[in-house]
Amino acid sequence: MKKTEFFEKNEISLRFYAAKAIIEEAASLALSMRPSPGGPSATLKGRQDYVTEADRAVELMVYNRLSTLFPDDGFIGEERGEQAQGTYRWVLDPIDGTSNYARGRNRWCISLGLMKNNLPVAGIINAPALKEIFTAIRGEGAFLNGKPIYAAKTKNLDESMVEIGWSPFVPLEWWQEKTTAILNLGSMPRSLGSGALALADVACGRSDGYLEKVIYIWDVAAALVILEEADARISPFIKMGGIEKRTTILATAPNIASQLSKALGVELG
Ligand code: IPD
Repeated sequence: MKKTEFFEKNEISLRFYAAKAIIEEAASLALSMRPSPGGPSATLKGRQDYVTEADRAVELMVYNRLSTLFPDDGFIGEERGEQAQGTYRWVLDPIDGTSNYARGRNRWCISLGLMKNNLPVAGIINAPALKEIFTAIRGEGAFLNGKPIYAAKTKNLDESMVEIGWSPFVPLEWWQEKTTAILNLGSMPRSLGSGALALADVACGRSDGYLEKVIYIWDVAAALVILEEADARISPFIKMGGIEKRTTILATAPNIASQLSKALGVELG
């Protein structure tokens, strides 16, 4: 290994392990603040677009901790936008699946990605109510609670399961068209309210695909590297402008990737 590669590997590992510990603390904080089951306990940013006190508290806590440890790094968070710029850049969704969280459900997570320039190099998705932590460092594999994970080997579409993400930015006609396409393929549809966890499900083989018309970088930054390391196929989210604006994503299990890509009209990278 060249000296520069060795230093880069160390820089990334150092950040990853520090961040993993910080996200574990943040996950406990979020869990302690989770509303009890009931109607949504949150503020509306727009129709069906929620923010809770925990979103803000987690983002502030993670930003404060990471910026103290790595003052030269950049930071983008869902609630406060870009806080700093740097060669390494943290990308945080403090609570992904806020609509679930706000009603006391279990399916939500904290998603933290690390990018070097525009390349995702490490990711952590911590879902404390599910007791699951997905992790990856580029070139070192993807893991769920420390065990290696891989995308499913599904070949038969009649056995496949595909999730479509819904947000208020999805036009009714698009939703109907893509749901019909999935049903026509013989796949079983799902829609569970957390983009990051839906992508993690593709990475660990619990589902065979995830499609969302437009999604933000903080929802997917951690998952992009986890999916790559798990041998899933992904649309070129960053090349399609995903850092600057909400962008389409398709992630699929490898053996049915071309069929899903064609049926759903999204090219893969
Ligand atoms: C949302 C969730 C949802 C997805 C949206 C995201 P949030 O993130 O991941 O499943 O469909 O595109 O914005 O608001 O819960 O952090």
